[in-house]
Amino acid sequence: MLRLENLRKSFGGVAATNDVTLDFPAGSLTAVIGPNGAGKTTLFNLITGRFRPDGGRILLEGTDLAGRSPGAIVRAGIGRAFQVASLFPTLTVRAAIAAAVQAHEGRAMRLRGRFPEAAGHARTDRVIDMLRLGRAADVISANLSHGDQKLLDIGLALALEPKVLLLDEPTAGMGPEERWQMMETVQLLWREGGLTLVFIEHDMDIVFKVAQTIRVLSYGAVLAEGDAAAIRANPAVIEAYLGKSAERHGAAA
Ligand SMILES: Nc1ncnc2c1ncn2[C@@H]1O[C@H](COP(=O)(O)OP(=O)(O)OP(=O)(O)O)[C@@H](O)[C@H]1O
Ligand SMILES: [Mg+2]
Repeated sequence: MLRLENLRKSFGGVAATNDVTLDFPAGSLTAVIGPNGAGKTTLFNLITGRFRPDGGRILLEGTDLAGRSPGAIVRAGIGRAFQVASLFPTLTVRAAIAAAVQAHEGRAMRLRGRFPEAAGHARTDRVIDMLRLGRAADVISANLSHGDQKLLDIGLALALEPKVLLLDEPTAGMGPEERWQMMETVQLLWREGGLTLVFIEHDMDIVFKVAQTIRVLSYGAVLAEGDAAAIRANPAVIEAYLGKSAERHGAAA
């Protein structure tokens, strides 16, 4: 589905992305982890076209997207949740998602010569359902809780019907209970939406419980790949990242 090949990006002398080759199979749920500054967000910025790679390929179903504009990459099927809820402070959740659906469908209309309005309403309802945002559908965006604003950000990305969805620290700034609720919702939309989903996360309890498969970055390079058991037991990962907290996980398990 999504394959990165020998991807490289430097800032000044720092290799933020250092010859990264990674596969994200269709329908997979992957966590990207690693220390602060390891290059996780940079990887997302490269995939979404915000940064132009110095080299390498970004293959979506075999088509190389490297060097394309962010808009072209969204249209190709790669979505990302930005903190965009604030773009629509005066709109309700439903109206904001409907606006994103319409922007997407409007483009489809110009391509197909018709506007499937009923399909637009159905898509809006489906996004609200997938995110379990029905209870807040009529709330003005600016008045949402932090967690619901994050859900709306994801909803605006889903409105554009991505094949691949990238979430950069979806639980950042949340308390423990809210984190698990967010990740339950992420799992739900991954299952129901048939998406290839990649999330960056620092909370190892969440990573080990939620991710099907894990990719570890360190100094811009891929340090390890595998499932929770393999990553937990990997000496290089423990040394670079998990450290004492991993030993505690091991002791508690
Ligand atoms: N726009 C930029 N200009 C210059 N340097 C950058 C830029 N973006 C990232 N970097 C550098 O690239 C490296 C990787 O940063 P990145 O934000 O990708 O790390 P990260 O793994 O997401 O870290 P964190 O866990 O703290 O979010 C760092 O050294 C950072 O300073
Ligand atoms: Mg980051």
